[in-house]
Amino acid sequence: MNNVVKVDPHSPQHLAIERAAKILRDGGLVAFPTETVYGLGAHALDPQAVHKIFAAKERPGWDPLIVHVRDLAMARPLMKRLVSQFELLASRFWPGPLTLVVEKAPQVPAEVTARRPTIALRMPWHPVAAALLEVAGLPIAAPSANRFGRPSPTRAEHVIEDLADRVDLILDAGPTPIGVESTVLDLTQSPPAILRPGGVSREQLERVLGDVQLASAVADEIARGGVAGPGMTLKHYSPRAAVELFENARQLQARADELRGQGKQVGVLDSTANIDNLAHALFAQLRELDAQNVDVILCVLPPSQGLGLAVRDRLLRAAGKGDQT
Ligand code: TXA
Ligand code: MG
Repeated sequence: MNNVVKVDPHSPQHLAIERAAKILRDGGLVAFPTETVYGLGAHALDPQAVHKIFAAKERPGWDPLIVHVRDLAMARPLMKRLVSQFELLASRFWPGPLTLVVEKAPQVPAEVTARRPTIALRMPWHPVAAALLEVAGLPIAAPSANRFGRPSPTRAEHVIEDLADRVDLILDAGPTPIGVESTVLDLTQSPPAILRPGGVSREQLERVLGDVQLASAVADEIARGGVAGPGMTLKHYSPRAAVELFENARQLQARADELRGQGKQVGVLDSTANIDNLAHALFAQLRELDAQNVDVILCVLPPSQGLGLAVRDRLLRAAGKGDQT
């Protein structure tokens, strides 16, 4: 396809970045890698360009976008005021997989924030994303580059699968290093609330902020003390297959035997790897098993420490226990 350009993930070719930057300046769409997942980018201050993101993804208009910035100087005019927690967190975790929600400045188009008074800001470290922000010189609104309701793309192939001809350019830098999305932290609540666990862990945030609340699908699940096993079979989502989650391998094996006995095609997500590898491969594995047309996908949940919290959250969403954006 002629709208896919391969770029070096460590030192991206300047010509490719220039081409992408020009498309963004002209109001087009560019899919690009970040350290978490691929994003579908548009000029954040151009309402028509932002509208194209929603159309391409078939994303409902109520779901606000993350705005990516090159540095704090680019973020500053997008927010109403610079709060001290923002400065502190940005100095510790930017560039990186942390998205901060703060009150927005009037100049930010309502389309970007889905008419909310707040804006979600993030500075990625992936060299391709950083170069694009640097050369384009503008804030880039970018949700994950998947079709709404599908797992986030961690490879350019996933973007092609979901969005192909709906984007002007796809920068292909291979698999994204982290594999799950950024942590979304709402600084307008006190204490700050994790709206989505992700690449920066709850423990890391607590070490800097003290108290942090957890306001997401996983919060309820953790409060209940884990999943019950086959009881929580929920048909919904992302993979076409049903997803069932287990607290240990023995429960999973028993269920796999039972399902196979019923003549079902069973796919097992490999969760024996360390948590970094599991996060890295999670969405690709879900897409792969789905492509194999299995009836049921089984997975053992990782412990909720560190990146495990984000992986549990995504698995619960895949099982139909949370929103999928
Ligand atoms: O890692 C990531 O965050 C990736 C890469 C591309 O940066 N982006 C991403 O975007 O995952 P998206 O749109 O798929 O998820 C953004 C999440 C959504 O759950 C959205 O509701 C939330 O951030 N969000 C955005 N703006 C918000 C706001 N003003 N208030 C509360 N939540 C917000
Ligand atoms: Mg998304």
